[in-house]
Amino acid sequence: MTETQRAVTKAVIPAAGLGTRFLPATKAMPKEMLPIVDKPAIQYVVEEAASAGLGDVLIITGRNKDNLVNHFDSVPELEYSLERKGDEGKLGKVHESSELAEVYFLRQGQPLGLGHAVGRARGHVGYESFAVLLGDDLIDARDPLLDRMIAEHDSRGATVIALMEVPQESIHLYGCAAVEATDDADVVRITGLVEKPAAAEAPSNLAVIGRYVLRPEIFDILDELPPGRGGEIQLTDALHQLAEGKGEAPVYGVIFRGRRYDTGDRADWIKANVLLGVDHDELGGEITDWVIGFADQLRARREG
Ligand code: UTP
Repeated sequence: MTETQRAVTKAVIPAAGLGTRFLPATKAMPKEMLPIVDKPAIQYVVEEAASAGLGDVLIITGRNKDNLVNHFDSVPELEYSLERKGDEGKLGKVHESSELAEVYFLRQGQPLGLGHAVGRARGHVGYESFAVLLGDDLIDARDPLLDRMIAEHDSRGATVIALMEVPQESIHLYGCAAVEATDDADVVRITGLVEKPAAAEAPSNLAVIGRYVLRPEIFDILDELPPGRGGEIQLTDALHQLAEGKGEAPVYGVIFRGRRYDTGDRADWIKANVLLGVDHDELGGEITDWVIGFADQLRARREG
């Protein structure tokens, strides 16, 4: 399939969750706007979509949406001031986010769950396959995933979701997949999905992470879906119906073995800042020296 025939050209980024795990930081700001080093988390996600060739990005927003919308817009007064100072470097940073892709916004209305947020995208997406990237889930750009998922979607004609192996004691935090092996060690056929199961009931240690390539048939299923776990419309429940054969095509999982950060989780957010900080072009040397010195201090504190 050539670039011009590509079936997947649009990305949907749900960013309308309440972000209660990160209060009070998320009281007046969406968690997707929390910075990782010097960029809001969602900018990395839009960059990921753009570099996978998805130039049409729909962000589903909730309360406090202004920060998000402004971030992907131009800021004439700031740009004028930097232009007058001849500060090309900072000007480039201001322009970066507004030049990545065509970014559209749609309000979810009420935070009725991830499945509801995705369902709201129907009018924008139309009858096409599309990618969903969770706005608080950061995949390290050095470990590409989306291109592979789109290729599997195109060659198998299937819905494709991203999975990651997690320790059995953590599976209750994720959607979990029942799977059958394929002849590719990184691809499994999904036979069922369960949202946040107890470890003893989990069908595998494969957790669903925030990247999906969905066929448009998902919209009809979401429309009919009753609230599931936590009273929310769960995307996992809709995918479970597809995995059980309710749709026209099967569901496959691509197993991701790279670096991923849940930036809506406080500890993961701190780790993401340190991990991307030590590799940062301008700050890496300083942060690395500091981390090494600090680790020595912590070790001494623990031993003494
Ligand atoms: P989470 O479950 O991580 O979001 O949703 P949350 O409800 O904001 O989190 P906590 O537990 O209260 O901290 C996963 C993704 O789905 C989006 C979130 O913004 C996040 O990107 N989401 C969730 C919506 O867009 N709408 C919703 O109604 C729920």
